[in-house]
Amino acid sequence: MKRRRIRDVLAAPPSDTPITVCGWVRTKRTAKRFAFLAINDGSSQDTLQLIADAGTPAFAALDGVLTGAAVRARGVVKASPGAGQRVEMQIDALDVLGPAPADYPLQKKGHTLEFLRDIGHLRPRTNTFGAVFRVRNVLAAAVHEFFQGRGFVWAHTPIITGSDCEGAGEMFRVAAPAAGGAEFFGRPAHLTVSGQLEAEFMAMALGDVYTFGPTFRAENSNTSRHLSEFWMIEPEMAFADLDDDAALAEDFLKAMCRTALERCGAELAFLEKHYDAASSGALRDLAESTFARLSYTEAADALQKAGVDFEIPHAWGQELASEHERYLTEQVCGGPVIVTDYPRAIKPFYMRVNDDGETVAAMDVLAPRIGEIVGGSQREERLPVLERRMDELGLDRSELAWYCDLRRYGSAEHAGFGLGFERLVQFVTGMANIRDVIPCPRAPGTIDF
Ligand code: 4AD
Ligand code: MG
Repeated sequence: MKRRRIRDVLAAPPSDTPITVCGWVRTKRTAKRFAFLAINDGSSQDTLQLIADAGTPAFAALDGVLTGAAVRARGVVKASPGAGQRVEMQIDALDVLGPAPADYPLQKKGHTLEFLRDIGHLRPRTNTFGAVFRVRNVLAAAVHEFFQGRGFVWAHTPIITGSDCEGAGEMFRVAAPAAGGAEFFGRPAHLTVSGQLEAEFMAMALGDVYTFGPTFRAENSNTSRHLSEFWMIEPEMAFADLDDDAALAEDFLKAMCRTALERCGAELAFLEKHYDAASSGALRDLAESTFARLSYTEAADALQKAGVDFEIPHAWGQELASEHERYLTEQVCGGPVIVTDYPRAIKPFYMRVNDDGETVAAMDVLAPRIGEIVGGSQREERLPVLERRMDELGLDRSELAWYCDLRRYGSAEHAGFGLGFERLVQFVTGMANIRDVIPCPRAPGTIDF
């Protein structure tokens, strides 16, 4: 018999037609005349309560069943007299598919997130991680809906690449089993840090495109916002400038918040209660707000005037550290802020040089609690300016000849951005550590699971 998902059972009216459900036991309570079993199958935040009457085979089968066991039950769905649940299931048959002994690590009491990271293969069974991964799924689908709904073409950019888009030297090498020292691809190859350069040539043919896939960075930063493997969304638009880019980023973030509120009510309510008290309020605020805008120069001024003892004092020309980003969004703007026109010297070669010669047409979106969530720019479309920038940074022009070709043949202004998908999931779920929003976090010194 086909199993019914608990999510659907909880939403349907009571019925006399027997159904089958499967799941993992969360709790068991046995009384003289009946036993209660709460099971969860991952389809919903809530558990389904099963009731077996004493004297039935189902009651006998419950003997020895402990938290964590996988079971299959057959019975009928009844209206529940209990508080906090609409329906429950009176069962007449129960099969223990896989028992769990008493050392099952997820007993009912709350565990720390640190402990759960060590049992990454079991943590999806907790309320917390079930919620996070269902929200992640809804957001992933919403990314495609958003861009497909606007006519953007999903471009599949490569994972193995020969170019360092960001020029930060943070690439993992890709090597084949030693073949006499020869490079498998004829020259050094790496895991991509960004699909942008390839997305640019797709946009300069198809108009509006986006990528959504894994990216890799060998940054040695063990922070709550960095992963060595993360998923990035990179839209790229032809015939578009920095304002178009910022507007798209703002629309996109608001749409993601709205979708999460619409489709993940139970998950957000749970996470709000146990983790970040402001989370769905913050989402609603964000979805209705107009993002603040600051130029980098204005941001630098605000930091100067802050009178705050930052760990790293800020001066014009320096990167914004995470503490600066958070100060700008949380204290100066009280919400998301789009910072534009960063100094040329701290940004990659492909960003369009502004008329002042000192800044580039960059825009980062900073969000409360997260800091940088989006990084984007208008791209340099003028060949001589691009070549000058590449020389300045010591980049090998021959390796990026194809990229320069886009400026030689039918060049036009174009712009795009990158959004770290895990930072978005962090923002929406309120999870403080990025390692808690991806099934298998990759970070320096960590490759379990
Ligand atoms: O700012 P970044 O480095 O920009 C780019 O890669 C551009 N090529 C994007 C573009 O214009 N198409 O990275 C973009 C975003 C960041 O804003 C951040 O959200 C995320 O990617 N990100 C990371 N997320 C998790 N772990 C890391 N180590 C990340 N590094 C960047
Ligand atoms: Mg950035």
